[in-house]
Amino acid sequence: MRALVIGATGGFGSEVARSLAARGARVAVHGRNTDRRASLAQEIEAPQIDGDLTAPGGPDAVVDEAARALGGLDIVVMSAGGVAFGPVADLAEKVLRQVIELDLIAPILVARAATRYLAKDGVIAQVSAVVATQPMAGLAAYSAAKAGLTAFDVAFRREMRRAGVRVLDARPPHMETGLATRPIAGTPPGLAEGRNPREVADELVAAIAGDGDTPDWIS
Ligand SMILES: NC(=O)c1ccc[n+]([C@@H]2O[C@H](COP(=O)([O-])OP(=O)(O)OC[C@H]3O[C@@H](n4cnc5c(N)ncnc54)[C@H](OP(=O)(O)O)[C@@H]3O)[C@@H](O)[C@H]2O)c1
Repeated sequence: MRALVIGATGGFGSEVARSLAARGARVAVHGRNTDRRASLAQEIEAPQIDGDLTAPGGPDAVVDEAARALGGLDIVVMSAGGVAFGPVADLAEKVLRQVIELDLIAPILVARAATRYLAKDGVIAQVSAVVATQPMAGLAAYSAAKAGLTAFDVAFRREMRRAGVRVLDARPPHMETGLATRPIAGTPPGLAEGRNPREVADELVAAIAGDGDTPDWIS
């Protein structure tokens, strides 16, 4: 299996990449942070893909480069994202546009690019969030982007059914990845202890593999 993990330099994406590699997949790892990307690439012997997903043509370039590096794609996991905290009244237009661009438009463009490579039994897994169905004050734009992504995934799944490509919409709960410590803007509220990202990643990768019962945060 040839898998691309987008956002593999992140706390969750890195665990998804490790979990896929542990199951024998050949994984290409994407992220902009060169140190984190190189270190993971060395650990799991993966080709590295760079690229800003909010740049024009960015998502297409990332998917195309990974397909070239692996000789095709069977699995695409989109785990890049970012959050802005605070009441919407306090958030700059630029920040709001950035959240929608990264958390909604980029995953849609990744999905469109993936249609060029995924064939029967291929899988695309989008990482949405629990706020897609339980939107939170102080996270209004992020919640809206994730809810939009979840709606996209439901419709896109129907479009891909005939081709035999599975579309997974993952809505993880809060995890200890450090996401909240590097927001696009704002200050995080006090958050309860999150789940271990390694365990959550293993659950997502099991669902990708079609193993066992799928947890209720994945559809
Ligand atoms: N942590 C949670 O509690 C939680 C809960 C539910 C859902 N999620 C979702 O899970 C996904 C992963 O989050 P995480 O917790 O792993 O956060 P993280 O550790 O901050 O990782 C974010 C990832 O996104 C990439 N990224 C950010 N902006 C980018 C851009 N413009 N272009 C390309 N890549 C970009 C980062 O890569 P570089 O900076 O190296 O480019 C990094 O790989 C996100 O979609 C997030 O919304 C997280």
